[in-house]
Amino acid sequence: MALLEIDDLHLFMRSFEGEAHVLNGVDLAIDRGEIWGVVGETGCGKSLTGLSVSRLVATPPARYARGAVRFDGTDLLRLDEAAMRRLRGRRIGMIFQDPTTNLNPVFRIGEQMVDVALHADGADASVLGLPSGASRRARKAAARDLAIRMLDRVGIPDAAGRIDDYPHQFSGGMRQRVLIAMALIGRPDLLVADEPTTALDVSVQAQILRLIHDLVRQDGLGVMLITHNLGVVAQICSHVAVMYAGSIVERGPVRAVLKNPTHPYTRALIAAIPSAATARGTLKGLAGSVPNLIHAPQGCRFANRCDRALPACREGRPATVEPSPGHRVACNNPAGEAA
Ligand SMILES: Nc1ncnc2c1ncn2[C@@H]1O[C@H](COP(=O)(O)OP(=O)(O)OP(=O)(O)O)[C@@H](O)[C@H]1O
Ligand SMILES: [Mg+2]
Repeated sequence: MALLEIDDLHLFMRSFEGEAHVLNGVDLAIDRGEIWGVVGETGCGKSLTGLSVSRLVATPPARYARGAVRFDGTDLLRLDEAAMRRLRGRRIGMIFQDPTTNLNPVFRIGEQMVDVALHADGADASVLGLPSGASRRARKAAARDLAIRMLDRVGIPDAAGRIDDYPHQFSGGMRQRVLIAMALIGRPDLLVADEPTTALDVSVQAQILRLIHDLVRQDGLGVMLITHNLGVVAQICSHVAVMYAGSIVERGPVRAVLKNPTHPYTRALIAAIPSAATARGTLKGLAGSVPNLIHAPQGCRFANRCDRALPACREGRPATVEPSPGHRVACNNPAGEAA
């Protein structure tokens, strides 16, 4: 049993025009020690997939129509809120896409981190490394030490001196690093990181990615890393899942997928990356746009942009092919035979 199993997840979102089928049968399994990069163009459902794992999608307006999100065998979609709260921040760490909304401006950085550490320690006393009968004062002191160590690990200079600052005294990139430290302070089994380094400069980005990589190696953390950046995927991910219009169209070990991209959407995504060798003006964009998810087309959702679509592609769900072990592609025409 994998640490996380997302099984045929369907999420519908109510709006004025009707119900949009925003997640359309997402299948993904993440094991301990694996870093899964989740990629795909804007609006394809990456964040909603990540938020579903922490069960933070508001229902309504959203509704889970089908499927399961199993964490260590328990379906999170059926768990009560109190049990879910015990998992969040402790066994499931989260880093969200928008750092400005995630720190409380009126509390010092240290207070917010100590709160998270104490809460995690309440569920599992090993987080602070103190005996279970330790006094509140001792626990608070240990939580503060841990917070300073975590800030130091994410590269906040003079962490001990800055821990009592307020969020507005930190730069955007520093706040993002605080959020990463907070997500890791409870020593989670699973980390869901939604664009954690997009706002950071490349050297800090590399440092954060190395930190995540080290934690995976040391603690056997499983990671879902949502990103636009295939370079980041190639650098640190063990696996990759490519999403398009609410489904995962291709997934597998990162080398297999990047060396032998098979779904036409994955190929287009890779072809769209500019390289030093790309001549100016020859950037290959992807023609067409994501289909309307309220009146989504029958069959493969990529068919209207695909140059290899067969008549069958517009009818039912595409077949799955497995070019190499664990490398799965939802495509009726992976070899590109003429229609
Ligand atoms: N609260 C909401 N209400 C209505 N529609 C929503 C809501 N949140 C997301 N959506 C829709 O669901 C779809 C998937 O959104 P999601 O945020 O998961 O995309 P994403 O892949 O993370 O995109 P990006 O790369 O821009 O972050 C989009 O079409 C979006 O418009
Ligand atoms: Mg997103």
